[in-house]
Order: sequence, then C-alpha cells, then structure tokens
Amino acid sequence: MIPPLAGLDGAALREIEALPRRGAPAPWEDHPLSRGGARARAWFRGHLGSRTGQFFVVRDPAGTAAGLVGIESVAWVPRVAELALLRLPAGRRGIAAVRALVQVGFADWNLARLHAVVPEDRPAEIRALLAAGFRIEARMRGHFRGPRGRRDALWLGVVAGARGEAAGLPRRGPGTRSAGRGPELRLAPLRRADLAHTHRWRNDPETRDPLVAKPFFLTPEESRRWLTGLARRGTERAYFARLADGRPVGYGRVKEISRRHGTGLLEWAIGEPGLRGRGLGRSLGAAVLDRAFGEIGLRRVYGLVADWNAANLGCVRSLGFEVEGRLRRHFVVAGRPCDAIVVGLAR
Ligand SMILES: CC(C)(COP(=O)(O)OP(=O)(O)OC[C@H]1O[C@@H](n2cnc3c(N)ncnc32)[C@H](O)[C@@H]1OP(=O)(O)O)[C@@H](O)C(=O)NCCC(=O)NCCS
Repeated sequence: MIPPLAGLDGAALREIEALPRRGAPAPWEDHPLSRGGARARAWFRGHLGSRTGQFFVVRDPAGTAAGLVGIESVAWVPRVAELALLRLPAGRRGIAAVRALVQVGFADWNLARLHAVVPEDRPAEIRALLAAGFRIEARMRGHFRGPRGRRDALWLGVVAGARGEAAGLPRRGPGTRSAGRGPELRLAPLRRADLAHTHRWRNDPETRDPLVAKPFFLTPEESRRWLTGLARRGTERAYFARLADGRPVGYGRVKEISRRHGTGLLEWAIGEPGLRGRGLGRSLGAAVLDRAFGEIGLRRVYGLVADWNAANLGCVRSLGFEVEGRLRRHFVVAGRPCDAIVVGLAR
C-alpha cells in the first residue's frame, strides 16, 4: 500500500498546483508554497534541510498527488510544532494524512505536542484533526479575516501519549476594565541604546521564565541581531517604557503581526522586579495596546500566558482581555511542561 505521505519535490509541487481548491478561502493560502509557481518552488528549495519544519505530498492509493501538508514552526526546547494543512484532501484521505503527520511528529521527531489553527468555516480540516485525536482548546474570536468578514479560529491541540485536559478558566465578567490607566509611562520604539536594559531583564529568570516561547539565555549579539532585523521582518514592533522621570521600567513587543488578519501577539514585562505590582504593568499594557490598535492598525491582540503566571493573567484580564481557551502542555519552563492560557482582545 502507498503510504499517505511522501517526500515533497518540485515535480510534486507542480502536480499539486493543478488541483482544484475547495471550501472557504483559508489563511494558509498566503503560505509561500500555496501560491504555486516559480516562487513557491524557489521557497521550497530554500526550505530544504530546514530544522524547523518539513512538507509532504499526500498521495492517493493510485499514487496521484492529492494534497500538501507539513509540520512547521518546530520549537525543539518545548518540543511543540504546528501542522500546516495547506491542501488537505477531503474525507478519509484527509484523516489518514493528519494521522500520518501526527505519527511523524510524535514517533519520528519525538515532539511532545502538536497544534493547528483553523478557521471555523473549514469543516473538513477540523473533522480530520478531531478524528486524529486533536481537541479544540480555544476559540479565537474574529482571528481571521475572510471574504464575509471576520471569522473565529479554532485552536486544536494534541499531546503525545496523554489524554490532556481541555479546561477553561472562569470568566471575570464580560470585557471588564479597571477604571483609570495607572501611573504614567513614556513609551517609545525600542532603540539600540535600550538593549543594555532589555538584555539584562531578558536574562533575569524572573522575567525570562514567563517568556515561554524562548525561556533561555540570550547573548548580547543575539539581542542586537534581533533588533537589527526588526524593520526588515516587518512582523514585529518593540517598545521601551520609562517613568516620567526617565527611569527604565519595561518593554512591550507586538509579535507575529499579520497584516492580512490584523492580529498580533503581545509579550511584555516590567523589567525591574521592584516595580511590579504597582499598576505599571497595566499602564504598560494599555500603552502598547494603544500602539497596536492605533499606529500598527491591528484589530485583535492575543497572548499566550503560562498557567502559573497569575500576575500576567490578572493584568491582561484587567486590560479587558478574555480567556479563550487553554493549550495543554504547550510550554516547557525550567524543564516542566505547563499549559498556556489563550487570551484575546478585539477592538
Ligand atoms: C505581568 C506583569 C507585566 C504585570 O505587571 P505588574 O506591574 O506586576 O501589574 P500591575 O501592578 O499593573 O497589576 C495590574 C493588574 O494585574 C493584577 N495582578 C498583578 N499581580 C497579580 C498577581 N500576582 N496575581 C493576580 N493578579 C495580579 C492586579 O490586581 C491588577 O488588576 P486590577 O487592574 O484589576 O487592579 C509583571 O508582573 C511582569 O513583568 N512579570 C514578569 C514578566 C512576565 O510575566 N511577562 C509576561 C509574559 S508575556
């Protein structure tokens, strides 16, 4: 029997381009591989040998190319990755393809967790993921822009060898916001001269560990390279906050900016531990949100909060974010897996 997944090459990419598209337009149609043509093939050549993902062609029993799927954004420290269902065949073949991807992720690559973010109006992909053992962990309100306006996204996840808990958190009340904005802060785009502070904060375990996506030490060179690449990448803005008297306080980043969907992911910290718990986090959050919804032009900001980070959760809720779900064992902090709480705020 022909296995459902085979290695991808330029010839298979051409075969896949000829396949008809089906269903509501999907966000992954923006993916370089989905666009087809010479640019897709060039992107694929550049991606060969990548350590953060791999793509496969889905073949039907007769050996004909029927779809294109992959595993992307592999983070080897927490061992998590995202499925890219670029062209998933409908029905049983789609289910078999997702199951085969899960097998690659867990058995071959030794990942601990996989997830996929799918618009709610793509039932074939959602059914295939559910059939392969994924569970809906969060509903991200208005996360994608589609031809008929905003639509919700479902965040589906599966954990290797465990029946995880899909638990929500009690709501604090619809969109409640504390009155007032807290102490005054000055927020400005982060500059090279600020790196000495962010670098020190970033490597202090109290600030570093909650930064669950990259909870490890950064060298000064890595910090500089990150800042130099910001403008070129265009998917992130970083800000630095000072008190009215000029004392450095903290920073805020809006990452993974999607122009098409108007979304961004918030990361922030009050860098000086002695300044926490005085309302400055709220001021910083409010100032960064002003930029996100104002000059960046987003319509939705979301965050992933480690489940033990009560200060972060308390602060984002105070800013009006709502809890949208829980991603089981999504992060590893200090060697311990922990859940991520998905929070979101739409304009
Ligand atoms: C998360 C963080 C930015 C919050 O800033 P802060 O200055 O400590 O928070 P504030 O004093 O402004 O408090 C804001 C709100 O959060 C709540 N809060 C603060 N600490 C809390 C705690 N430990 N438990 C529960 N709620 C808490 C406050 O009650 C307040 O709510 P209110 O406005 O309804 O009164 C700060 O603690 C921090 O930098 N932590 C380390 C880095 C981090 O975790 N970053 C987030 C990763 S993306």
